[in-house]
Amino acid sequence: MSKIFVDACFGKETPYTPVWMMRQAGRYLPEYMEVRKQAGNFLNLCHNPKLAAEVTLQPLDIVGVDAAILFSDILVVPNEMGMKLDFVKGEGPIFEKPVVTEADIDALLGGEAAADKLTYVYETIKILREELDRRGDEKALIGFTGAPWTLATYMIEGHGTKTYNICKKMMYSNPELLHKILAKVTEVVKFYMQKQIEAGVDVVQIFDSWAAAIEPGKYDEFSWKYMVEIAEYLKAKYPHIPVIMFPKGIPAFLDKVYGNFDVFGVDWSTPMAFAKARLGEKYVLQGNMEPCRLYSKEATTKCVEVIQETMQGKRHIFNLGHGILPDVPVENAIHFVKECQRVSKK
Ligand code: CP3
Repeated sequence: MSKIFVDACFGKETPYTPVWMMRQAGRYLPEYMEVRKQAGNFLNLCHNPKLAAEVTLQPLDIVGVDAAILFSDILVVPNEMGMKLDFVKGEGPIFEKPVVTEADIDALLGGEAAADKLTYVYETIKILREELDRRGDEKALIGFTGAPWTLATYMIEGHGTKTYNICKKMMYSNPELLHKILAKVTEVVKFYMQKQIEAGVDVVQIFDSWAAAIEPGKYDEFSWKYMVEIAEYLKAKYPHIPVIMFPKGIPAFLDKVYGNFDVFGVDWSTPMAFAKARLGEKYVLQGNMEPCRLYSKEATTKCVEVIQETMQGKRHIFNLGHGILPDVPVENAIHFVKECQRVSKK
């Protein structure tokens, strides 16, 4: 069956512009908090296919989005390559032993063997595929990965960072070592995405959340080319599966964007008209409401109308320009989704 979301990814006409939200399964939903409590903690939830599938579906049922995004985390990949991962309350993700030397990289599991360890992700996808097919309501399932650069920032720093100083020291003083990490992660991610597709996702998105940490002149060398390598590997094998690229905060790189993929995710710091002028003919654009507008229904409606005015319901998917925050009222998220579907209805 043809799905509205998949059609939109390929730039086909749809009855309205489909909408989903980055981080749509999460803490702003009381129902998510309930299931997370049942699982014990966040990582247990990622490792439990039945519960992970349940929270994946919550935003479809509660908020009315047009696509579900697999519930997991980008950091399960380095975790299964052999890096012990913890989520510490109030501090976010922590890797106990960050990658420092070449020997540390060599010690990590690579290639298909690492991707094979993510069985709980593929199990979750299989449950979701079956359930979505049973429902038969045209909702798509999005699989995802972190971009090699964004994953490497956590592997090298050991946790989230404001300065990226350890990664950048490596970038400028030992670029070969950074490339070795990026290449190893890229190999794992290719197999990981392939296995997500084989398990049943309809679309994949590559999140480069920390793209803006790289100076524009170095962005291709240290991130984009690896994302394109993954996208082109997948497009050669699965031309019917759309690939979405989301490099956050790189307007200065937009004129240099290249590669075989389908959708470019526009973050909230880049005006939609600016992205449309540069990329709108070659790629479908996704985005890009500033997520904090969700605190006000009026601010939300205004922004949705402006985006619709710019995109005219063509070659566009509605989304936020980054993830939804935990203290957003659920009714405001529902309002956003309804407004996107209302203004774009043909
Ligand atoms: O709904 C969805 O979008 C699917 C699930 C999803 C999660 N993480 C769940 C999650 C996705 C796609 C991600 C991707 C992810 N994880 C990214 C890239 C996307 C982005 O927002 O830019 C990044 C950088 C991570 C790493 C990560 N995971 C961080 C920094 C944190 C802590 C954030 C925080 O606010 O505490 C996580 C944890 C995480 N991943 C949560 C969820 C729902 C919160 C965990 C919880 O307490 O329940």
